[in-house]
Order: sequence, then C-alpha cells, then structure tokens
Amino acid sequence: MRQLFNIMIILYSSATAYSRKVNPMPFKLIQSDITDLKVDAIVNAANASLLGGGGVDGAIHRAAGAGLLAECRTLGGCKTGQAKITKGYNLPAKYVIHTVGPIWQGGDKDEEGLLRSCYQSSLELAVEYKLSSIAFPLISSGIYGYPKDKAIKVAEAVIGEFLQRHELMVYLVIYNRRSFKLPEKTFTAINAFIDNRYVDEYRIFDRSEAHKVGMLYESKMIQTESVDEQASKEALRSLTDLMAELQETFSERLLRLIDLKGKTDVESYKRANVDRKLFSKIRSDKHYKPSKSTVIAFSIALELNLDETKDLLQKAGFALSRSSKFDLIIEYFINEENYDLYEINEALFAFDQPLLG
Ligand code: APR
Repeated sequence: MRQLFNIMIILYSSATAYSRKVNPMPFKLIQSDITDLKVDAIVNAANASLLGGGGVDGAIHRAAGAGLLAECRTLGGCKTGQAKITKGYNLPAKYVIHTVGPIWQGGDKDEEGLLRSCYQSSLELAVEYKLSSIAFPLISSGIYGYPKDKAIKVAEAVIGEFLQRHELMVYLVIYNRRSFKLPEKTFTAINAFIDNRYVDEYRIFDRSEAHKVGMLYESKMIQTESVDEQASKEALRSLTDLMAELQETFSERLLRLIDLKGKTDVESYKRANVDRKLFSKIRSDKHYKPSKSTVIAFSIALELNLDETKDLLQKAGFALSRSSKFDLIIEYFINEENYDLYEINEALFAFDQPLLG
C-alpha cells in the first residue's frame, strides 16, 4: 500500500511540476512581422513627421488603418531620439510607440546616443502607460542605414539595463533571419567548434580511434594531480557534505551556488534572463523541474565552468549532448569563458536554435 502511495506522490509531483513549468523570458529575440504581434505596444521606426513612410513605418500604418495617421497628425511630429504614443487601431497591439531613429552618418554624429535614446524614451512611455509587453524593430537599421550588428548591440544594452530595474516583457523583432548576421569571426569559430566535435564524436565510434581517446584520457589523468592527492582532498571534505550534495535537488544546488558565487537572487535571475515569478517557483519548490534552457541560463548567469554546468544539469535530469547544436554552442561559449547572455542568444538565433532564459 505504502509503495502505491509513494508512486502516486511521484506521479502527482511530476505532473504538477510539468504543468507548472513556465519559462517566460523578460527579453526575447524573435523573427516576426511586428504588425502581427499581440503585445501591449509595438514600436514604430518612424520619421520626424510621424506621417508614415516605408519599411516598418509603412507596414504599421497599413495594418493599423487610417485612424493611426489621423491621430499622428495631431502630434506635431517627433524629434530624433524621442518617442510619442498613439492607439493601435486595427493592430493586435493596443498601442504604437513612434520613435525617430538617427540616420547613420559614419558613427561620429552621436548616432549611438540618439539610438539609445529611442529605446530609452520608448521604454519610459511603457512604464508611464503601465504596459506589460513591448516589441521593438531594429530601429534605424533599415532605410536609415545603421549597421545591424551595431544596432542590435545598442538595443540589447539599453533593454538589458532597463530590465535590471523593471519587470516588462521585451521583444526585439528581426524581420528576416537572413539579414541577421553574426560577426564573421564568431560565426566561423562556432561553426568550427561544432564541426570538430560532431566529427570527434562520430570518429570515436571508429574502433581504431577508441584507444587513442583512451590514451588521451589516461594522459590527462596523469597530468592532473595524482589520484591519491585527489583522494586525500576528497577525504578532507566531510562525508556528510558529500552525501548532502549528492542528495541535493536542482533548486537546492542552484540556491547554494548563488550563495557560493556571492550573488543575490535578483541579480542571478536577471542575469539569467529569467522571470521573477519563475525564480520564486524554483526557490519555493525544492523539487521544481526547470527546462534545460533555464538550467543553462543560470549556469551562464553564475559563470559556471563546464563541469559545474554539467553537474547542475544533471541535478535537473539533463546532460549536454554532442549531437545538439544548441548544447555545442553553449559549450563553445563556456569554453571561451564568454558569459554574455545577449551574445550567446544572438549566436543561438543565428544558428536557428531556441534562446536562453
Ligand atoms: N516587422 C518588423 N521589422 C520590420 C518590418 C516589419 N514589418 N519591416 C521592416 N522591418 C525592419 C527592417 O528590416 C529593419 O531591420 O525594421 C528595421 C528598421 O528598418 P526601417 O523600417 O527602414 O526603419 P529605419 O531604418 O529606422 O528608417 C526609418 O524609414 O520607413 C521609413 O518613415 C520611415 O523615414 C523613416 C525611415
């Protein structure tokens, strides 16, 4: 009878854990037509007249209908770097925030400052109007000629700083994935990293190579401190600590790592691009089952090395796989000790992989 009861408990907790699995990320890079998005506000990359134009401006006016233009006529234009808000009319979005980006003139006419101000002013309107979600196009990166790779860095910087102090769902919309390019050096390095490991993994199953890998493993073992030195270190750690660590759940291990790394809860989940509500579920339910992406996002936020990351994943029932591009890209960035979550998400986006957080 007891056994049946235990099985019932396990089934119930895994079912509720599954149903509770939420994974809202406060900042998301997405590919879409911004006029399709059902968010509180979409941002329009307008011109100073606010009377419509081409690009995303034209698309928004077409989708919103004549009412938008009529309201824009009452606004008296808008200065570069500033933002004004109207209703969304026929759009699925409730509001349109119109902002005027700088025209790219080589980078020494304060284009970056003005572009930062576009994002900042739009976000301030979102706070003023108590919005819970907003979607940006890549302002100035079309007709106004701002280099896309620079434009995305500006957007991520301002949005990232804002999300350290506010709760808001922010989408950065890339209209066509083709136009989204990683810096050549990064793209090539990641590609090589993936190719090698895929080949390595594949080659290991070829018997003639297996002993080589074995020898490599042996030599690595010899190079590190000898086994008995290692054993004596382990012996110094009390057996109870080891036993406790072995029995830790993901949530317990995560909270211990946050303390160990000297971080606060807030800075940890913010750096992990994880929503406050999700973090409080993890904190309050020691058996909470997170998604693999959430585990990895915290590994990046806490700047864990590869072994620590694998260990934390294992606590949640996951492992890094050499046959997954997503996992290999994560492994690449951890090996490079590059814990910039925005840069990692750009790479994941460029390789058509799900994002972190
Ligand atoms: N959804 C999302 N993004 C879009 C869409 C769309 N429907 N259409 C275009 N974009 C993207 C472009 O690919 C580009 O990355 O929006 C970004 C900004 O491009 P533009 O719309 O050309 O805006 P911008 O570069 O800021 O130039 C503004 O263009 O449309 C005129 O009246 C506007 O004069 C102003 C100038």
